[in-house]
Amino acid sequence: MEHSVEQLHLQDFEAAWRACPAVQQPAYPDVVEVQRVCVELKRRPPLVFAGEVNELRELMGKAAKGEAFVLTGGDCAETFAESTADHLKLKVQTILQMAVVLTYGAGLPVVKMGRMAGQYAKPRSADTETRNGVTLESYRGDAVNGHEFTRESRTPNPKRLLETYQYSAATLNLIRAFTQGGYADMRRVHEWNKGFVNNPAYARFDALAQSIDAAMQFMKATGVPADAMRTVDFYSAHEALLLEYENALTRVDSISEDLYDTSAHFVWIGERTRQLDGAHLEMLSRVKNPIGVKLGPSATAEDVTHLAERLNPEGIPGRLTLISRLGNASVREILPGLLRAGKATGKPIVWMCDPMHGNTVKTASGYKTRHFETVLDEVRAFFEVHEAEGMIPGGIHVELTGDDVTEIVGGTETVDEAALAKRYETLVDPRLNHQQSLELAFMVAEMLAKLRPGLQNTDLVDFPEMGF
Ligand code: PEP
Ligand code: CO
Repeated sequence: MEHSVEQLHLQDFEAAWRACPAVQQPAYPDVVEVQRVCVELKRRPPLVFAGEVNELRELMGKAAKGEAFVLTGGDCAETFAESTADHLKLKVQTILQMAVVLTYGAGLPVVKMGRMAGQYAKPRSADTETRNGVTLESYRGDAVNGHEFTRESRTPNPKRLLETYQYSAATLNLIRAFTQGGYADMRRVHEWNKGFVNNPAYARFDALAQSIDAAMQFMKATGVPADAMRTVDFYSAHEALLLEYENALTRVDSISEDLYDTSAHFVWIGERTRQLDGAHLEMLSRVKNPIGVKLGPSATAEDVTHLAERLNPEGIPGRLTLISRLGNASVREILPGLLRAGKATGKPIVWMCDPMHGNTVKTASGYKTRHFETVLDEVRAFFEVHEAEGMIPGGIHVELTGDDVTEIVGGTETVDEAALAKRYETLVDPRLNHQQSLELAFMVAEMLAKLRPGLQNTDLVDFPEMGF
């Protein structure tokens, strides 16, 4: 009996999104194989649980009110090959270090999310890629096809969806182990900085770690239990791009009978798939997860109004995040109108800034890069516009890695255009390296501290050599 109610609920869900136009889906040569894979995926356990998802939604609700700040970070595209313990550890560590800087600087809880454990599918501007007269399908992320430029590798293979599930599960398992098993203990905050070469961002982090140590000692001496400092909550997030995959992982919660996309805690709709009548919107309008929508420079005030009505008709706090990625040249001009439209809906919206995707450029030597200064400028503008509009910046969403790559030009340990070739490893978009990520966190912490004038945090302002 219960089983059939659940089945009907899921059938209804599937029929609804299938009735809408869907863009950016892989053209699988063998659709029967896709169906077989999805049957298999539907049998697999959920990756996240309704209780955790609800908890995140409540935390996001606080961010809309200025009682928390959200930090989302991770690769543009995760790859199966780089889902190793070392890479994952450095990525989690980078996000945790940034979160410590933000928490300490702003005196606010920071909601920590990784573009991790599921960020394996990419929307592409062009369906095909041509090299030396050979045209093949574009790389759409490891969830769809291989990066290698051969016909075999570039042909979308549904079996990769099973691998996606497998890698997501393993990654999530490691994240849970790191963040719940003692590695993220605040008493070890100093250790996170070990092994990195000397530079101003690290010196500054070290000073911050010393202040945290002192505060912890003080708490210990006064008898405050340190248990709460031992673990952190860390949530998974990815773009809900592949409808078959997200559909297979959408489940009915046995308690509330609501639908949850159990592939991640937070899922977002990308700039290329946010059509108001599209399948992606229809799908995510029906699940209870906190969800996001990216807004590029073509977004209008009407889009914001419709998105708020479609995706959060009941005005649930934390349900809807709008992630602007307008580019530093356009943000001051476009964002005010979007914010006003959001405010006029009367519904809570978490506004986040993605300072990466509107700021991608190509160098003369052909590298896709971003300039650190334009990334910082978009974040700065995001804060300024919020202040001018009397609104609250909810968080930042960035592409980063814990490794010392050279993909973004700038930062105190200046990567110049010639240095890009040294360690350019991304398969899709350029990422902040570990040190640039920390520098960005310090800048955002300063801006957050300014929003809270009661907070006199000298640890943050005494580093003139960083030039912020
Ligand atoms: C991304 O986040 O990697 C991405 C493709 O972003 P957008 O949809 O904003 O272009
Ligand atoms: Co990207």
